[in-house]
Amino acid sequence: MTKTVLITGATSGLGYEFAKLFANDGYNLVLVARNEERLKDIKNKFNNVNIFTFSEDLSQSNAAQRVYQAINQEGIQVDMLVNNAGFGLLGEFDTISIEKQHDMVQLNVTALMELTYYFLKDMKMRNQGKILNVASTAAFQPGPKMAVYYATKAFVLSFSEALVEELYGSNITVTTLCPGATKTNFGAVANVENTKMFSRAMSSEVVARQGYAAFIKGKRVVVTGGLNKMGVIASKFLPRSIAAKVAKYVAEEN
Ligand SMILES: NC(=O)c1ccc[n+]([C@@H]2O[C@H](COP(=O)([O-])OP(=O)(O)OC[C@H]3O[C@@H](n4cnc5c(N)ncnc54)[C@H](OP(=O)(O)O)[C@@H]3O)[C@@H](O)[C@H]2O)c1
Repeated sequence: MTKTVLITGATSGLGYEFAKLFANDGYNLVLVARNEERLKDIKNKFNNVNIFTFSEDLSQSNAAQRVYQAINQEGIQVDMLVNNAGFGLLGEFDTISIEKQHDMVQLNVTALMELTYYFLKDMKMRNQGKILNVASTAAFQPGPKMAVYYATKAFVLSFSEALVEELYGSNITVTTLCPGATKTNFGAVANVENTKMFSRAMSSEVVARQGYAAFIKGKRVVVTGGLNKMGVIASKFLPRSIAAKVAKYVAEEN
């Protein structure tokens, strides 16, 4: 039977690249994002597989439950889940509106956690499934000038690695993708395009391909790109106070 993957944030960037990769390999797609027009365009474009689209703002309360219920009403079985939707914001903590930062936590943390909850329960009943959670190299150290964003990604990594252990011995894998700066709409949304961290941004195709390969193999954590891998290793050896200073430096304008 053809397997079905649910991808959040599939209308642009990494999510769109994931949709292409899964469609090329013949998986049916359930795509979730806010932009209804863009979802329709994608549905028309990939005509080799079945595609269901759900326009939903995942930063709203109970959005994950609404998505889960809508999918059940359609009688769709989600075999794989890609929690990709997310955004960041540049600026000192107290200078960014609390509403926007709240939305960020709701999307990057709450929606990801709740979607995992609902679909993992079903996967456990079948003892079969795969989950890809998109974190970031931001997960490995504190991030001055993007304090909440870095903290949300630390949550994603910690949460996902804990699930790997809970699911040890089962046929369910949880993979965490940790990209560094990548050329997508993220840079414009977060206003980080002109920062030092974005001076060597990777292509979204390459990042998605590396994430997809790791996901299919059921790897635990994947950091994309050689420089990002070196940065993550360095952050493990540096005192956190120094790692935070480095993160602050790369958040400055280039
Ligand atoms: N690009 C980078 O440098 C980078 C680095 C590390 C990690 N990441 C992570 O990679 C993931 C994908 O981001 P990207 O780089 O591909 O950025 P992107 O091009 O801006 O894509 C973000 C996606 O999330 C969706 N989205 C945003 N807010 C949403 C909401 N409230 N409800 C539902 N969907 C929403 C957007 O679709 P709609 O606008 O249609 O809703 C879009 O499809 C994020 O989790 C991000 O934190 C990115």
